[in-house]
Amino acid sequence: MGLQRNKNVLLISLVVLVAISVVTTTNCQTFDVTKYGAKPDGPIDQALVDAWKEACATPAKAKIIVPKGTYKLSKAFFLGPCKSPVEFQLDGILMAPAAASGFKSGDGWVTFERIQHLTVSGTGTFDGNGKDSWGAKCKRTDYCAQLPINLRLNYVTDSEFKDFTSKDSKQFHITVLGGENLSFKNLKITAPEDSWTTDGIHLGRSTNITISDCTITTGDDCISIGDGTKKLTVTKVSCGPGHGISVGSLGKYKNELPVEGVTVTDCTFKGTSNGVRVKTWEGSPEGIATDLHFEKLTMENVENPIIIDQEYCPWGSCSDVKGSKIKVSKVTFKDIKGTASTPFAYKLVCGLYPCENVQLMNINLQSTGAKIAGKATSVCKNVKPQISGTINPPPCIDSAA
Ligand SMILES: *[C@@H]1O[C@H](CO)[C@@H](O)[C@H](O)[C@H]1NC(C)=O
Ligand SMILES: *[C@@H]1O[C@H](CO)[C@@H](O)[C@H](O)[C@H]1NC(C)=O
Repeated sequence: MGLQRNKNVLLISLVVLVAISVVTTTNCQTFDVTKYGAKPDGPIDQALVDAWKEACATPAKAKIIVPKGTYKLSKAFFLGPCKSPVEFQLDGILMAPAAASGFKSGDGWVTFERIQHLTVSGTGTFDGNGKDSWGAKCKRTDYCAQLPINLRLNYVTDSEFKDFTSKDSKQFHITVLGGENLSFKNLKITAPEDSWTTDGIHLGRSTNITISDCTITTGDDCISIGDGTKKLTVTKVSCGPGHGISVGSLGKYKNELPVEGVTVTDCTFKGTSNGVRVKTWEGSPEGIATDLHFEKLTMENVENPIIIDQEYCPWGSCSDVKGSKIKVSKVTFKDIKGTASTPFAYKLVCGLYPCENVQLMNINLQSTGAKIAGKATSVCKNVKPQISGTINPPPCIDSAA
């Protein structure tokens, strides 16, 4: 009798437990693209349109799944707002066509727009198939701007991007515009060293963004921080090859918004042309870049580990107006060690307004002379950095190098 009752109690609790777990799993409704007609090695465009339409309209949490396999995608545009949080779990490979037709300047190949509570996850790959796009015609022309960005995030808020790979984008890999409360974690971003304008993550007009535990190897900036970026934290990112992590370029256009509150910590730079950089265009209008902190960084064979360049003017493309009117202030470079492949450990070249409150603390950079032989040294202009701790080499001694 007692035994029977105990058994019943056990049974009832088991039933309750099972019921609870069913409720919690059915709380999230899944949308597998293969149920919408997508097949490995076939096209996926329409299946994504259909799955998104349903997922975005579902009152329950929704999860779109792209299972393992390679799917051909010419373009995807995911527009919100959605009824509930949506997750896009990419376990397969989305493959772009080699030709970049049907895109206008600034377009994304895959675009998420006006969505709150989006998660993009999975161990899959956005493959931009860009190798035919990077050739010499992309160099020094506007042609590059017409090429699609692998992943465009426009006005996406309170969202998370994790675990996936972005490969061989035709242009920037990930561009964030008007984003707020976003985290990028454990991403792998990769393109060959000789690819053009394949920036890893580009941010603009966005607030409260965290980028952590990412590996970025590319032909341009690993991370570029455009105007209107506020409260950005970059941590545990391995960058290189590539052009390093840059604030800027700023001042190419009028009415740019301030960049304010950027922290880059615990990052490694391997064989990059720059380490951490602030760049503003020669002749740029009034603007602000302030509260920028670069700390606990390791440089391995980096051409210019620490650089403020307010005379940025690639391929002589700027106006005749000299100087930059962007005011750079409250910048710290702290606990930075490793090797420089040129003698220029620091380049601190400020604009019409001198840089203010630039601090250098505990820096130890050896010039390996891999590129140019010589003792590590520096170039400085319109700046009087405050120095503390151990600084090797000493900056701003031989100014006109
Ligand atoms: C910043 O964004 C994170 C999500 O990435 C969020 O948890 C946090 O509350 C936000 N902080 C502020 C001050 O908005
Ligand atoms: C960002 O997060 C903060 C803190 O959680 C919240 O107050 C704010 O509304 C969020 N911003 C957006 C645009 O959702």
